[in-house]
Amino acid sequence: MGVKVQWLQPRKSHPQAFQRHTHQPVEQMNSDPVAGGLADYYRQRAGEYDAVYRKPERQHDLARLKKLLPAMTAGRRVLEIAAGTGFWTQVIATSAASITATDLNAETLAVAAARDYGQAPVELMTADAYRLDAIPGNFDLVFCGFWWSHIRRADIARFLAGVCERVGAGTGLLLLDNQYVAGSSHPITRVSQDGDSYQDRRLLDGRQYEVLKNFPDRAQLARDLEGWVTAFSYAQLEFYWLVSAVLAGPA
Ligand SMILES: C[S@@+](CC[C@H](N)C(=O)[O-])C[C@H]1O[C@@H](n2cnc3c(N)ncnc32)[C@H](O)[C@@H]1O
Repeated sequence: MGVKVQWLQPRKSHPQAFQRHTHQPVEQMNSDPVAGGLADYYRQRAGEYDAVYRKPERQHDLARLKKLLPAMTAGRRVLEIAAGTGFWTQVIATSAASITATDLNAETLAVAAARDYGQAPVELMTADAYRLDAIPGNFDLVFCGFWWSHIRRADIARFLAGVCERVGAGTGLLLLDNQYVAGSSHPITRVSQDGDSYQDRRLLDGRQYEVLKNFPDRAQLARDLEGWVTAFSYAQLEFYWLVSAVLAGPA
């Protein structure tokens, strides 16, 4: 089976997207230590990221998700936001009509580019989750794997507004993320006044980062998405949660 990965050039009329492609720092990131630190952490972690999917205690849930997700993405034209190393891109490529997998970091997408996606047309593109307008294509499903937990509570409306503006009302939304499980999750080291929680993460070479990581429960997710979506549905596994909904437009 041929791999059909294409690297897309963001439209040059969007200077910031073009800058990302040439590895220039994004202005917004520079002035925002939380978002900039998060992006840098994942850039540096790209080569070791997939170890998180080898945690023994999570294998049962991961096997369930590998069956659930393809059924939910079958025949859909998927815009994947913060796709990282393409672990879930590969899973949904078994059923999706097409996938445009985006991430801020070219380093994580370089790992994604080495995967085999079978016959599914998969395009990889650097893009900021808060600036989706430069991404070409038509989509009927937006998928975010382990990205929602990295959105500051104060940025949720901005993120959803950008998604709605790019793909329009009636588009499906699929969010997959972590439950907090003591002993398996990194401990929460602090909670900000806004209610954002943070963890200390260490790379294999010892470098330490403070990383924003929120763990909303079902009620919180329903409140956060209220007015933005219809057909909200929530599934809880031991280590993960999954939300499926349909975008309705600005709250
Ligand atoms: C927890 S990883 C999830 C990766 C992948 N979706 C998965 O589930 O394996 C978070 C990803 O967000 C990306 N990221 C960080 N800031 C971003 C931003 N502003 N826009 C888009 N992606 C961003 C990181 O590069 C990283 O790949």
